[in-house]
Amino acid sequence: MEVERVQAIASLSKCMETIPSEYIRSENEQPAITTLHGVVLEVPVIDLSDSSDEGNIEGLICEAAREWGIFQVVNHGIPDEVTSKLQKVGKEFFELVPQEEKELIAKLPGSESIEGYGTRLQKEVEGKKGWVDHLFHKIWPPSVINYQFWPKNPPSYREANEDYAKRLLGVADKMFECLSKGLGLEPHEMKEAMGGEKLIYLMKINYYPPCPRPDLALGVVAHTDMSAITILVPNEVQGLQVFKDGYWYDVKYIPNALIVHIGDQIEISSNGKYKSVLHRTTVNKEKTRMSWPVFLEPAPEQEIGPIPKLINEENPPKFKTKKYKDYVNCKLNKLPQ
Ligand code: OGA
Ligand code: NI
Repeated sequence: MEVERVQAIASLSKCMETIPSEYIRSENEQPAITTLHGVVLEVPVIDLSDSSDEGNIEGLICEAAREWGIFQVVNHGIPDEVTSKLQKVGKEFFELVPQEEKELIAKLPGSESIEGYGTRLQKEVEGKKGWVDHLFHKIWPPSVINYQFWPKNPPSYREANEDYAKRLLGVADKMFECLSKGLGLEPHEMKEAMGGEKLIYLMKINYYPPCPRPDLALGVVAHTDMSAITILVPNEVQGLQVFKDGYWYDVKYIPNALIVHIGDQIEISSNGKYKSVLHRTTVNKEKTRMSWPVFLEPAPEQEIGPIPKLINEENPPKFKTKKYKDYVNCKLNKLPQ
């Protein structure tokens, strides 16, 4: 089956005023109608370098995770060169590598695994499509990596992704520790509840080509991430939106910041104390937007449920305990959890 890549549709529709009807969202989703304009939502920005005040950083992270489910971190310790290289090789894969070569690492139809180059994630409601192509591959731990899904071109792709993965581990551990302490748990307990060192780091590159009608289309439709935490590097093109108090707001682009999303598994394990954030992306008329989220995911067999220490008579469990793979299956097939 030949899959239509959005990148190809975008280059055909460059000189047009319209887009194919399957990319036009219903009115209750169209960004032009549903975005609150003139307000750039200030999701909390947290400076991780302020080591004189560890307690304060922890407090800010936990407050952001409770109130927003999303925040940005700056001075996070990942050198700018490392993220710039990650971005450069990802952009080269999408823009310089011939399409036939990209298709060599395409996700196979019917395959169980999410890894590979692709266009559609799940059955879209009413046949509507998002204006985005993507690439998924695991980057950590080494035992789960399938290099067959990593681009061979540009040749430095592998090194750039390995360098970023190693640097990201420290940031991730810091997030888990803070979230753990914020619930009155020992620093290691939250990560342990997610499977500890078995946690899988899944890289995704989103490639949103220019779109003639950004007022009518969406990139990624509204969702919460299934992961524990997602740590995302965006390019400079605005596009991420979060839902708060009944409206969609743009999240401000901050150079060199990492955007941290609380995912469903942290909401569940915290028994609802932390919120997984509802978010979506818009696209741009002239510019290509790209983003590099890494989903920190429990292993498929890992059981996730409210952490027992957080449960008592006043705080009964709000979520079922189940294997991560069963959670994913229900969510992708839109079945009740
Ligand atoms: C996602 C996502 C946001 C972005 O891929 O799950 O929410 O900024 N991406 O591209
Ligand atoms: Ni997301």
